[in-house]
Amino acid sequence: MKATAKAHTNIALIKYWGKRDEKLILPTNNSLSLTLDGFYTKTTVEFREDLTEDIFYLDHKLVTDEQYHRVTKFLDLIREYAQEKTLFAEVHSINEVPTAAGFASSASGFAALAAAAARALNLGLSDQELSKITRQGSGSACRSIYGGFVEWHKGMELDGSDSYAVPVSPQDHWDVRVAAVVLSAKMKKVSSREGMRRTVETSPFFSSWVDSIPSDLEDIKQGIKERDFEKVGQIAEANCLKMHATTLGANPPFTYWHDTTLAVMQTVQQLRENGIPAYFTIDAGPNVKVLYLPENEEKVQDILREIPGVTDVKLSRSGQGVTYI
Ligand code: DP6
Repeated sequence: MKATAKAHTNIALIKYWGKRDEKLILPTNNSLSLTLDGFYTKTTVEFREDLTEDIFYLDHKLVTDEQYHRVTKFLDLIREYAQEKTLFAEVHSINEVPTAAGFASSASGFAALAAAAARALNLGLSDQELSKITRQGSGSACRSIYGGFVEWHKGMELDGSDSYAVPVSPQDHWDVRVAAVVLSAKMKKVSSREGMRRTVETSPFFSSWVDSIPSDLEDIKQGIKERDFEKVGQIAEANCLKMHATTLGANPPFTYWHDTTLAVMQTVQQLRENGIPAYFTIDAGPNVKVLYLPENEEKVQDILREIPGVTDVKLSRSGQGVTYI
């Protein structure tokens, strides 16, 4: 009743922003991401008859706060599936996701937890079933089941039975790289969960955001298929800007951007003016991720590192889906 799984984080090029069901974590739009090789979570789950509650260690430290409750709530779903309501687990997670780089460790975290827990109980889940369960831990995590480019189908059913991720192209389809630009700015004030909720409930721009997704998705998938970097980059950058525009229309309004965020965005636009194709995307925090091609790695990295307020630049390639150790 013990298993270890490793899952990588992912960066959305078409963002998941808005839920239609908060409990089941059902999104209002499809999203598309690239799984990254640089950042991952490794999790061991052992179910034991002698335990009376779950125990969770993150990076060798016992966790008892809100993070613990999210883990036990998620294990409840696994227990329900397995019809083992009183079987508790000891969980050990190691995060190789620099939280300072603005990557949600919840994506790789819940994907690794789901995979290890399901394997420990021999549930024999297909990737699709695994993605569906993972989604209920954290939405973006359902995309981390697969490597390469991945699409999360929002689904139509009320019970979430058709809301899961599917691979768009395998890890080795195309060598697109991502630089995570780390800023000295402080931690975010509005979580993605709260930010999404507020936007759905109050932003007049939200419905236009949702309406704009199908054509962005169709075009970006075409671009990925043809390995058309400019097409993919332009769509991803514009999609990110639209997502962030919805937050400015919310009540009360908010933004995840800092002055350095804008400086990085402008630098990326300058890179393009100088003939180097590079595009940015930003999640629910101030840090910026820059997409580029391998031949421009050095130039892109050097220029990003020079921006005042940038403390680090971490490079990543396309990564693989869940693996078992
Ligand atoms: C901006 O997956 O962290 O990164 O489902 O509430 O856990 P919950 O949210 P989460 O949201 C990610 C939002 C995003 C865009 C994306 O990854 O698609």
